[in-house]
Amino acid sequence: MVSRFFLNIVLVVLIAQNSATAQPGNNIDPFHYSSRKKVECTHGAVVSAHPLASDIGVEILKEGGNAFDAAIATQFALAVVYPAAGNIGGGGFMVARTAEGKNVAIDFREKAPGKASRDMYLDANGNAQPDRSQNGHLSTGVPGSVAGIFKELLFAKLPLKKLIQPAIDLAENGFAVTEPQARSLNSEQGEFRKYNTELPVFVREKPWKKGDTLVQKDLAQTLIRIRENGLAGFYQGETAKLIIDEMQRGNGIITGADLLSYQAIDREAVNSTYRNVYMVITMPLPSSGGVLLPLMLNMVEEQPLTNYGYGSLKSVHLMTEVERLAYADRAKYLGDKDYYEVPISTLTSRRYAKERMKLFDPDKAGTSEKIQSGSIPAESKQTTHFETYDQDGNAVSITTTLNNSYGSKTVVGGAGFFLNDEMDDFSIKPGVPNMYGAVGGDANAIAPGKRMLSSMTPTIVLKGGKPFLIVGTPGGTTITTSVFQTVLDIIDFGLTPQDAVNKPKFHHQWLPDEIIMERDFNPAIIEQLKHMGYKIRLTSEIGRTEVIEILSGNRITAVGDKRGEDTAAGY
Ligand code: GLY
Repeated sequence: MVSRFFLNIVLVVLIAQNSATAQPGNNIDPFHYSSRKKVECTHGAVVSAHPLASDIGVEILKEGGNAFDAAIATQFALAVVYPAAGNIGGGGFMVARTAEGKNVAIDFREKAPGKASRDMYLDANGNAQPDRSQNGHLSTGVPGSVAGIFKELLFAKLPLKKLIQPAIDLAENGFAVTEPQARSLNSEQGEFRKYNTELPVFVREKPWKKGDTLVQKDLAQTLIRIRENGLAGFYQGETAKLIIDEMQRGNGIITGADLLSYQAIDREAVNSTYRNVYMVITMPLPSSGGVLLPLMLNMVEEQPLTNYGYGSLKSVHLMTEVERLAYADRAKYLGDKDYYEVPISTLTSRRYAKERMKLFDPDKAGTSEKIQSGSIPAESKQTTHFETYDQDGNAVSITTTLNNSYGSKTVVGGAGFFLNDEMDDFSIKPGVPNMYGAVGGDANAIAPGKRMLSSMTPTIVLKGGKPFLIVGTPGGTTITTSVFQTVLDIIDFGLTPQDAVNKPKFHHQWLPDEIIMERDFNPAIIEQLKHMGYKIRLTSEIGRTEVIEILSGNRITAVGDKRGEDTAAGY
């Protein structure tokens, strides 16, 4: 079936390289496209990790959809064109502000299967086996993304069939993979062969190269079942059967009952003020961002950051120590609050922040107690963030993930989508670092039905009660510190959205006791930090931050991160 969506677009003369199918494309040509980093506009905007997904979102806005419609179409499209992180086999969070001034938070985080248990990743000697929590069938939490989309739909104007169709067409007819995608698919061939019971379309003999067409027929059929049957098209019937069969072939533990009982949850959005001017709306637990972002903002609120300036020794030192303090609390206190009593109101109170800041020495580097340490991967592209804004003033901020790149690396045979490896976000053993080097304890221990702690921090900042910034990023544990820094960069340091996105970032998470800094950070400051006693680890990149800034008169600036193929689109 060819959608009206694509029929509205004039047929092109260009025939895609390596493609037998002539693809429609005036505004959107799945075989010829490129990323665009910044757009200034007044009607609406979308930023996401892939040009095709951003463009589809904006087409939906132009066709009368609101920011929720655009977000849903973008989310489905990412599941096709950005398989490393876009997904229907993972989970995530949505934070939104409606044009009527209502805050919305939807939790579609994965949950532990009913047969999960606290020590399921320990061997007979009690040693943690991260390979099993990070790869293959056993690493998968019950997926939440599709349930999340159906909750998002309650705020949409257009029917599901219109919003999902561009994704179906892209899966059915294919799209041209980009150079980084070809490289990424090639680097994972061995893993894909190892963790799949049936070889998926991503595996092939000759290496992928830029411009090759990726066709995903099985995924198209899964999306069609969702279009035809709604939630039951994923959590019941043929798709559920394919997931259960896959689990049985690969010794996974997700059952039909797990799928049937999965529910996305409406949460109360976190709402905290900053410098008495801004209202910061973000995601509550199981997103750690909902505790850590207010905590860190409270800790710096009385500090003269504007005087210090972006990237100065004083500001980096202060922000590093604030991050260290916050992440020490993360390890101890944070987990799914439906299963563990988390002292949220204390942690997010100004009094507590003040108390914690007594530990800050403006002249000296702090030290983290050396209990356990782990290393954080240099690159963290496994999660993806996207955001939309429309002319009525609806703002949507969504971060979604498979956890690692391509999640568990397992594709559901016959259904064509990757399953997450989100179980590794639990603390598989107290004090043992997960793949991001984050440690945890009882608060984030595995229990059946429990949701694993996340760092995803989709955020909206209001000024005068209206959306001012929409911000978020992938990047594992660096997510919350990148959102924190981006907010300060714009509000306190006066950076443009483009500079706030692209200028170098840094990260401290208590353990391991080091500052991770992007390589292009000012070398003189790095030397001075070392001199203060900090251990510095340089990395190529931190996150992929997306920002939409809205100024008076609906002047919109949307920025996609230079670090990836992220694209800002708008009109
Ligand atoms: N899996 C990354 C996160 O949720 O923080």
